[in-house]
Amino acid sequence: MIIGVLNQKGGVGKTTLSVNLAASFALDGSRVLLIDADPQGSALDWAAAREAEPLFSVVGFPRPSIHKEIAQIGYGYDHIIIDGPPRVTDLVRSAIMAVDLVLIPVQPSPYDIWAADEVVKLIAEAIIYKENLKSVFVVNRKITNTAIGRDVGEALMAYNTQVLNAAVTQRVIFAEAAAQGKSVFEMSPGGLAALEIEAVKNELVGMTL
Ligand SMILES: Nc1ncnc2c1ncn2[C@@H]1O[C@H](COP(=O)(O)OP(=O)(O)O)[C@@H](O)[C@H]1O
Ligand SMILES: [Mg+2]
Repeated sequence: MIIGVLNQKGGVGKTTLSVNLAASFALDGSRVLLIDADPQGSALDWAAAREAEPLFSVVGFPRPSIHKEIAQIGYGYDHIIIDGPPRVTDLVRSAIMAVDLVLIPVQPSPYDIWAADEVVKLIAEAIIYKENLKSVFVVNRKITNTAIGRDVGEALMAYNTQVLNAAVTQRVIFAEAAAQGKSVFEMSPGGLAALEIEAVKNELVGMTL
């Protein structure tokens, strides 16, 4: 499966979800490639901070030709995850054309809900050429038991795009793991963060069956 973790808004959790989803697939025994499409190279920085053996491959490809080259770059991998760039529309458009499924992280904030408009529009344009393209929101940095946490799903319904049942909570372990180039699975196997990422992965897999 080829998943693009995309949203032009920065800081919503694209890199965090990309590396942890990649780890989750890799720990199942799949061959996984993470493509860093962000010119800032955050996923590459994550890989560089890592001292342990790699769980999956990471390559940088911040060019608007991913959709043309994905077959070649991703040859031999079971799953490919594209960690998307902020802003740069042509890169996001190319990434959308390269994937089977777009995962759109959004934080439970009105600014994030409004900003999601941009990626939703690009997906709507792409569907004209790629009718099997799937897309889904995932709420990231959810704060448990807050009204905004509950309302976000409802607010996102205006986009006519599905929202995953699985959400990812605001947890310091995500930042701590990133600092060491690790996934939450290695920091705390079976921990709550790991279980949330697993649940996101399982729902994504279910969507493409
Ligand atoms: N669920 C979370 N809990 C705590 N911190 C998070 C979570 N998701 C992301 N972060 C932190 O928020 C910041 C932005 O996340 P990042 O994945 O880099 O976003 P993006 O790639 O969309 O710009 C990072 O410092 C990251 O560690
Ligand atoms: Mg990033």
